[in-house]
Amino acid sequence: MPKTQYVWLDGNFIESEKAMVPILTHSLQYGSGIFEGIRAYSTGKGAAVFRPGDHVRRFLRSARIYSMPVSYSEKELTSAILRLVKKNGLKSCYVRPFAFYNDAHIGLDVTGKKTSVAIAAVDFGSYFGNKDKGIKCIVSSWRRIDSQILPVQAKASGNYLNSIIASHDARSKGADEAILLDIRGFVAEGPGENIFIVRDNKLITPSESSDILLGITRDSLIKIAESRGITVEEREVHREELYTADELFFSGTAAELTPIIEVDGRRVGAGKVGPMTKILSDAYSGAATGADSEFSDWLAYV
Ligand SMILES: Cc1ncc(COP(=O)(O)O)c(C=O)c1O
Repeated sequence: MPKTQYVWLDGNFIESEKAMVPILTHSLQYGSGIFEGIRAYSTGKGAAVFRPGDHVRRFLRSARIYSMPVSYSEKELTSAILRLVKKNGLKSCYVRPFAFYNDAHIGLDVTGKKTSVAIAAVDFGSYFGNKDKGIKCIVSSWRRIDSQILPVQAKASGNYLNSIIASHDARSKGADEAILLDIRGFVAEGPGENIFIVRDNKLITPSESSDILLGITRDSLIKIAESRGITVEEREVHREELYTADELFFSGTAAELTPIIEVDGRRVGAGKVGPMTKILSDAYSGAATGADSEFSDWLAYV
């Protein structure tokens, strides 16, 4: 018999299939929720959640941006995540905390409306099936959300409509994923991933000024690269730099480190996973699985 899976909902563990909300729930209708995506990895000492404190802090910041009351502290949410992974008996998994207006009403005013926090933890493998060989991308004709329109540092459900339309459009044109430019035409990010360029043994990645989500994987890779003496530039990136890159890859909790071998029908570098990508990918999985003790404080064992 498969093991019963639970979700954490407002302080209690309940069976997943019993965790239901009414169809008119505000955040379901209007996208007014905020969420996080976190991975846990199987390590030599059992399952460990990767940088849970950083994810929970970003979660609480997303809520604060929208003045959304969340009744749980960083400590309570972090503990709930670890306990849930353990209770569900998961080794390597994806954890999805979600804060939402748990109130079935028509209308946009959320003043005084009830909020809930749910956390789900599910088995999860590679986000891209062809991750190891590298993926093919196209630059989307959809632009990344501008922070004058929606706050991009809030990981809010509604933001992901921009991601979904760009990703679906890319896939319908035969690509694996989209790359979005910011409103000015500089490279921003993927629909759910940050992007890195390797050129002349340097790492280049769009800066905060390109309205990217400041990814925790991005931060981890910058720290890993710097610890190995690799130069990292965070700056505005021109579209054509995608075409002249030696190597290119996405980073993200779901995508981990995914090589990009083609952009707009043009081969990136040698058209295969490059040496710097391989070094960083191995180093990232070493840190995430506890094999590399240098970054052991990123792991919380369940
Ligand atoms: C739009 C967007 N950019 C970047 C990322 C990568 O962020 P992280 O590495 O924290 O998962 C994500 C995923 O959360 C995302 O949704």
